[in-house]
Amino acid sequence: MAWFEFRIVFLASLTFVLADGKNVTNKYDPTWPSLDTRPLPKWYDDAKFGIFIHWGVFSVPSFGSEWFWKNWRGSASSIYAKYMSKNYRPGFTYQDFAPDFKAEFYNPDDWAEIFKNSGAKYIVLTSKHHEGYTLWPSKYSFSWNAMDVGPRRDLLGDLAAAIRKKGGMVFGVYHSLYEWFNPLYLKDKSSGYKTQDFVTQKTIPELYELVQNYKPDVIWSDGDWEASDTYWTSKEFLAWLYNESPVKNTVVVNDRWGKGVTCKHGDFYTCSDRYDPGVLQPHKWENCMTIDKQSWGYRRNAPLKDYLTTRELIKELARTVSCGGNLLLNVGPSKDGMIPTIFEERLTDMGKWLTVNGEAIYSTKPWHIQNDTVTSGVWYTQSGDNVVQKSVYGIILNWPKSGAITLGAPKFKQTSVVTMLGVGKPLQWNASGKTVIINLPDKTLVATDWAWVLKFSDLANSVSSWDSDDVE
Ligand SMILES: *[C@@H]1O[C@H](CO)[C@@H](O)[C@H](O)[C@H]1NC(C)=O
Ligand SMILES: *[C@@H]1O[C@H](CO)[C@@H](O)[C@H](O)[C@H]1NC(C)=O
Ligand SMILES: *[C@@H]1O[C@H](CO)[C@@H](O)[C@H](O)[C@H]1NC(C)=O
Repeated sequence: MAWFEFRIVFLASLTFVLADGKNVTNKYDPTWPSLDTRPLPKWYDDAKFGIFIHWGVFSVPSFGSEWFWKNWRGSASSIYAKYMSKNYRPGFTYQDFAPDFKAEFYNPDDWAEIFKNSGAKYIVLTSKHHEGYTLWPSKYSFSWNAMDVGPRRDLLGDLAAAIRKKGGMVFGVYHSLYEWFNPLYLKDKSSGYKTQDFVTQKTIPELYELVQNYKPDVIWSDGDWEASDTYWTSKEFLAWLYNESPVKNTVVVNDRWGKGVTCKHGDFYTCSDRYDPGVLQPHKWENCMTIDKQSWGYRRNAPLKDYLTTRELIKELARTVSCGGNLLLNVGPSKDGMIPTIFEERLTDMGKWLTVNGEAIYSTKPWHIQNDTVTSGVWYTQSGDNVVQKSVYGIILNWPKSGAITLGAPKFKQTSVVTMLGVGKPLQWNASGKTVIINLPDKTLVATDWAWVLKFSDLANSVSSWDSDDVE
């Protein structure tokens, strides 16, 4: 811009500040139309795969699900109430579980090692679930926190430090706006949310404390659905987070900030738990799902069949990434601070697969076709903006018995080349009519199990209509 133009703009903004008393560094107003204009920090779209951790006092009974307390109190005939009357003395309260949350084997460096080896690029820990117990020593927790009762340790701070020390992963937190049985919340609720004592004395101060003390780069909000964003003062909190907080340039938030907000506002949309639309989405989204099909918290009473297999998990990753999403895969640590071995094994498998096939996942963009038009179970991605030689990737979930796969989506020309990741040498192909038949390599030469990636170079239809600018 020319100097005189610059002066006009400069003077105009100065006048604006003087006239309005407004801080020009504050780009965002506490309104959704303004907050929605914030660009998505690039790291999040590049990451594709993160780990969710549900840990809290519910990890002590570790029975049924992390909704143990609510389900127990909700119905005297529930399996939870029966479990309690059969195994615990009369009068035993939920708070009585807390001293048994000892986390005596908790070694955050071991966790960081497991997560790093899984190929995950970000970690989201339940800083506080609906039970209200905080995993950090919050000033606003009335001693219902991990320092004052149970582990006697800042579980959250220690994990944040270990993740950052390990490197290559971003640290984030889950946070529940509401608490099932908090008297302040119940009072606000009984007023029809006309009073906001719980918000002003508990939820919002603790959110500021979390951000200022631990600088999480993900705030995964939850427990919002009973009240409006106005009650929660979510828009005001987000304006502060985006304008002034210590993580203003890097933080990403989800979409659970009040009744009616989910799937409409936020840096990324989670819509419902285990959201897996199967088609390309216009806005960045995340599929949060569990390895234990029934529970987020650790469940001692889960049989093997309740755990998803590695193959099923890789299928979720492929479908999700090809439709523009990230996968946030949940594990539930035990009360003693271990990542149960079944979770560790699944995560290790994910890492083995990603070591060979990560090129088709990390930093990719959706292609203009998500899954093959002829053979089911083939999901496509394409290399991202930073790659000069564009490639298309086809993730094959079922190895064809014949050893040859027929595909309808990639259009071949003379110079097209197809290889399999981890194998390298070009594969023979034969394009006729609308399909191409590709001879897969000898399966014994293939490095990984579960799913396989074909890499296509120089296709007639490599260039996609999808542009990175389309990611809102
Ligand atoms: C404007 O915002 C910046 C950055 O957050 C802050 O350091 C500064 O104190 C603010 N100034 C005023 C006048 O509010
Ligand atoms: C591709 O995915 C869509 C949506 O998930 C599904 O309806 C369709 O059947 C799939 N195509 C094939 C060939 O399997
Ligand atoms: C290529 O496929 C066509 C149609 O299936 C077939 O007629 C032809 O023999 C194939 N060519 C080779 C070299 O396999």
